[in-house]
Amino acid sequence: MGNPSTSRFWGLTFHVQTFGCQMNKHDSERVAGMLEALGAQSVATIEEADIVVFMTCCVREAADVRLMGQVASMKNIPLRGESPLSKRIVAIGGCIGQRDGEKLLVQLPHVDVVFGTNNLASLPGLIDAVLDGKERIAETLEESDGFPTDLPTVREQSWAAWLPITIGCNNFCTYCIVPYVRGREKSRPFDEIVAEAQRYVASGVKEITLLGQNVNSYGRDLYGEPRFAEILHAVADTGIERLRFATSHPKDLTDAVIEAFGTVDNIMPALHLPAQHGSDRILKAMHRSYTSKHYLELVSKLRDACPGIALSTDIIVGFPGETEEDFQCTYNLVKEVGYSQVFTFIYSKREGTPAAKIEDNTPREVIQERFDRLRTVVEQGAYDFNQVQAGKTVPVLFEGFSKKDGNVVTGRSPENITVHAPLPGGWSADGVIGSTLPVKIDEARTWYLRGTLMAGESARGN
Ligand code: 5AD
Ligand code: SF4
Repeated sequence: MGNPSTSRFWGLTFHVQTFGCQMNKHDSERVAGMLEALGAQSVATIEEADIVVFMTCCVREAADVRLMGQVASMKNIPLRGESPLSKRIVAIGGCIGQRDGEKLLVQLPHVDVVFGTNNLASLPGLIDAVLDGKERIAETLEESDGFPTDLPTVREQSWAAWLPITIGCNNFCTYCIVPYVRGREKSRPFDEIVAEAQRYVASGVKEITLLGQNVNSYGRDLYGEPRFAEILHAVADTGIERLRFATSHPKDLTDAVIEAFGTVDNIMPALHLPAQHGSDRILKAMHRSYTSKHYLELVSKLRDACPGIALSTDIIVGFPGETEEDFQCTYNLVKEVGYSQVFTFIYSKREGTPAAKIEDNTPREVIQERFDRLRTVVEQGAYDFNQVQAGKTVPVLFEGFSKKDGNVVTGRSPENITVHAPLPGGWSADGVIGSTLPVKIDEARTWYLRGTLMAGESARGN
């Protein structure tokens, strides 16, 4: 595919609709970056858009079905009156694009372009070909031909940046489709990551989140050994105000990384550490390579290294063959750890994964009841975690206005807890949003804190 002609994109509007994980969100920023670089203009809704790009997720069936419904129903949305096109261009990318490829052109007659996770950079060329009169195209690649480092990016927020350090996954947890649609793990060269972090710092970015399906194994493919602790220190040394990373597989979390939480000021005291389950029998069937005992040891080391660290996790309820006794192990683990946030999922069968072949006849209602029981302990844990913050003054990096109240600004504490604070009279929102300011916490609820913005120096660190 040749280079798309810039002039053809001038005057066109586009909208990117994203589902799923942070990696997909970051890919969407790259899609937006490429289309803007060609002269197209981003708009907030499908109604206003000449080009619509769906960045899809197939980790669970519900998202899959919802997405197909959404793509199907949009054929009824008329093209804007001023559009230079006679028909809206619809593209599907991300994990469903990768998995289903050409099949999507058959299933969805109004879709023009299908692309995958490994050929993001081809999208402008594919759209260009459709604009050129080529009918409809599906293009996916089995493996990415490298790291998509030099694509332009339009970041959602100017003060926060996602920085991918690995793509793909080698773990093949038995329930998970990701390794099949994102391919084998590939690490990005060390120096490139540090250089990108330095550029972000120089341009005023306040928070970097290192991204990868399993950041802890960073470097294994390039250097023969994991070098995550080293890259973490090197990025912290750029002087970025806040450094986070996701996601961590417990089997690869090393002592060096745990220690860094206690010794490096700008590594924020929050870690997402997916446990998935509390029963060793199920963890084995999931192919997670750790026991609940090992997981709890990690938690205790983390709390020793960094008292007050916020731990969050992912839990799957209803893995095939899960008994009440297995579920109790999950319940107890969640209760014991006291997470600040738990993402709970009902097991969703994904064709092509090993777990899809395991017979299961646990009734749906039983799984739902376990799920509901787990939610109560999750909420109690989050509530208890937040109570510890009440009365403290914490540095909050402000992101924008509260969705519910235009006079309230919202940001996150070092522990990644949402904090709302009324904008004091006479303060300009411009000076607050994108800045880190001290907030005295007056009220701690289950999912957020509310407090008072204090005048004074920008607070930083933890
Ligand atoms: N069913 C339910 N949850 C799943 N996840 C991944 N695959 C499945 C599945 N088949 C969850 C895991 C993972 C998170 C991103 O999604 O908990 O950590
Ligand atoms: Fe899926 Fe496991 Fe890889 Fe995470 S580590 S993406 S759950 S296979």
